[in-house]
Amino acid sequence: MRVKKAVVPAAGFGTRMLPITSVVPKELLPVCGRPVIQHVVQEAVAAGITEVILVLSEGKEAVADYFRPNKKLAEQLLRTGKHAELQQLERIWDMAKITVVYQQEQLGLGHAVLCAKDAVGNEPFAVLLGDCIIQSDDCGSFTKKLVEAFGSYDRSVVGVEPVDECLIQRYGIFEGAEFEDNVFHGKRVVEKPDPSQTDSNLAFCARYVFSPALFQQLENTQHGLHNEIQLTDAMQKLLETEGLNAVKLEGERFDVGDPKGLLYANLSMMEIHCGE
Ligand code: G1P
Repeated sequence: MRVKKAVVPAAGFGTRMLPITSVVPKELLPVCGRPVIQHVVQEAVAAGITEVILVLSEGKEAVADYFRPNKKLAEQLLRTGKHAELQQLERIWDMAKITVVYQQEQLGLGHAVLCAKDAVGNEPFAVLLGDCIIQSDDCGSFTKKLVEAFGSYDRSVVGVEPVDECLIQRYGIFEGAEFEDNVFHGKRVVEKPDPSQTDSNLAFCARYVFSPALFQQLENTQHGLHNEIQLTDAMQKLLETEGLNAVKLEGERFDVGDPKGLLYANLSMMEIHCGE
């Protein structure tokens, strides 16, 4: 079945980015002249996604508004002959169907994804975390690679990247065996383990494609690490029932959820020219 929908969790308060995030959602901060959320949605659209489900908290409506036509502005640009500017905006407004669901309480990433259950329905879907930008070495969409792997192996798949041992405790970790170049069968996944508790350094890198069975697993997931509903715990159950693959990222992931990461992304991506 084709993957047409993507869920983008973007409900967090952005406390690592205060004070600006008290009024501007972190997803709207710019990286090379475009808000973070536009980079993320573009990656999804380049993977064939036609509907993006934004999981927001109250007060972050501007993230969705960014993709909605602003009639007054359009009229003004037309009147003043600013056609190129208008075309640029229209490309953003036409990018994808944008649906908003709300996460009322911050109960974890798994809970945020579960909030999108009704909007997704009974079909496979991608998940792109809204505070990470991915730049593939080949300038293509990494989500597209995951969607293709989902199609080839008929199995949910997570994007992974090797991390230094000292960073293992910051990520969801994938343990598995490589069966094809950069493609792995999962044996176990674990959220933010102590390095002594795993023999893998493959960290989830904020991109996933899931079968809809993930939602049933999420509904049965108890509060885990940090008393949150962990996406990783539901992924472990999916692995045990349907299997779970991973595809290794060839490229770079930018965590743009903190000031240093945002600055680093701006500087690094200025150097990368991907035909734009
Ligand atoms: C989340 C996930 C984690 C993943 C990470 C990637 O963690 O829980 O499994 O590796 O995103 O960015 P967070 O960064 O929200 O703590």
